[in-house]
Amino acid sequence: MDYSTKVTDALAGALDGELSADDISAKLETPKTDAQGDLAFPAFTLAKQLHQAPQQIAADIVAKIDQTGFEKVEAMGPYVNFFFDKSLFSAETLEAVLTEGADYGQNDRGDGGNVPIDMSSPNIAKPMSMGHLRSTVIGNSLANILAKNGYHPIKDNHLGDWGTQFGKLIVGYKKWGSEEDVKKDPINKLVEYYVRFHKEDVEHPELDDEAREWFRKLEAGDQEAHDLWAWFREESLKEFEGVYDKLGVTFDTYNGEAFYNDKLQEVVDLLKSDNLLQESQGAQVVDLEKYDMNPAMILKSDGATLYMTRDIATALYRDRTYHPAMNMYVVGSEQSYYFKQVKAVLEEMGIPSADKLVHVPFGLITVNGKKLSTRSGRIILLNDVLDDSVAMAKKQIAEKNPDLPNKEEVAKQVGVGAIVFGDLKNDRMNNIDFNLEDQLKFEGETGPYVQYAHARAESILRKAGDVEISANDNQISDPEAWDIIKELADFPRVVELALDEFEPSDIAKFSLRLAKAFNKYYAHSKILADDAERPARLALVKSVSIMLKESLRILGVQAPDEM
Ligand code: ARG
Repeated sequence: MDYSTKVTDALAGALDGELSADDISAKLETPKTDAQGDLAFPAFTLAKQLHQAPQQIAADIVAKIDQTGFEKVEAMGPYVNFFFDKSLFSAETLEAVLTEGADYGQNDRGDGGNVPIDMSSPNIAKPMSMGHLRSTVIGNSLANILAKNGYHPIKDNHLGDWGTQFGKLIVGYKKWGSEEDVKKDPINKLVEYYVRFHKEDVEHPELDDEAREWFRKLEAGDQEAHDLWAWFREESLKEFEGVYDKLGVTFDTYNGEAFYNDKLQEVVDLLKSDNLLQESQGAQVVDLEKYDMNPAMILKSDGATLYMTRDIATALYRDRTYHPAMNMYVVGSEQSYYFKQVKAVLEEMGIPSADKLVHVPFGLITVNGKKLSTRSGRIILLNDVLDDSVAMAKKQIAEKNPDLPNKEEVAKQVGVGAIVFGDLKNDRMNNIDFNLEDQLKFEGETGPYVQYAHARAESILRKAGDVEISANDNQISDPEAWDIIKELADFPRVVELALDEFEPSDIAKFSLRLAKAFNKYYAHSKILADDAERPARLALVKSVSIMLKESLRILGVQAPDEM
């Protein structure tokens, strides 16, 4: 059991129902100095309620409380200070980590409930942006966090593979493109046609009519239009999959916008029969005045459907297919207003899971101060960023550890891990400027720093040889060990916190704290010394290794055993 629960239970017993367990645990504080114990309860917060002096309340609690499992419980002024029984606590914590292994911290809050996660979702015929990278890695980590909390995540790539832009693309391709060019360099070529289309239609507005006509054909199932669309989609997907492979991210479904084409009419019919559609300048909209929002457009004046129409169909499909416990969208904060509209329309329609829609937004990312864009001049491609990072990691490893046997493999793990970690360590709403060199440093708040701590722990265990490692109640006398134990014991709480806040950064920060505590311990103590405490120290190192690897896994970062 973790200590805050233990303290809460003991206090609840002593307080005779004056406060609920939740209220007690919310009040617990971590004292500033060791002399004030490991956790403290501010008794003065009860003074009004009990009509007593704070000191008196603290003293009464101490007199009544069950002290088993604590080294001591002391009243200090208006506080009750709890000193944990370190040897018991260490043994219990290590026992839990070593027996549960990577499952340590697993809970069943989600009760197996389905959570579709709409993530990554790049647009066909455009390069994947850093924003899509953020959605991919945040979504992937949230899926792991959900699973760790007992939910069943379903990772869905809602590809932008439908819309009027495909009419423009077909026109551009037919006028200026060739099969050969597209095969050679699909995304760049397709972007080129699209950009050229927008340049030329300024003087040749008839191009727009042609594009509209091609999209109309596409929606009507015309063979030529469909084949071109399918081909553009396939070529783009190949490139995206290259990025997903590098990141080690997989999806359960690729239900892009086009997947919902045959499900849009039902949406329109439902909205009509619920009397929710209104005409506005020829278009069909859902009025959202009572939500204090602009109307949501469902059909354009020419009858074409929109991004919104497809998202309503998507939510309806997920509602029926998964009966979701949550319906999650990991999409940049610039679409926050849009998702509020989607949710409001679903509520108006009375879709059961409407109130389960969670938009998990995130801030902007720039690379070395440069923004990524598809329309203008220079663009930084995600694929290139990943390759650069791996190349830099390779150079570092060659210098630091020239004898490492699987250098290539480790360079990939470190180079990609640096990018993923460099993103996820930030509160997701923060805007970040990404500096590759900084994120690749083995020191500071980086992925390689945590990976290196893990490799160091593994190296110690290799040196220790073939010994059986188990928790035992030998107290480890090094004071630095205690900081590690406290971190390990805190992990189950962090797992829940990360879910409550939808924040992978909680896990990243945990891994940094644990790596730091471990490095301090490593610097101060002779772990492999041949004395009575050696087995306990090895149990500690093994536990650190397990939890560093597990926290990195939750983030989607690999942990090489050697680097
Ligand atoms: N393709 C969209 C974009 O790049 C993101 C899609 C997000 N998901 C959704 N269901 N709308 O902006």
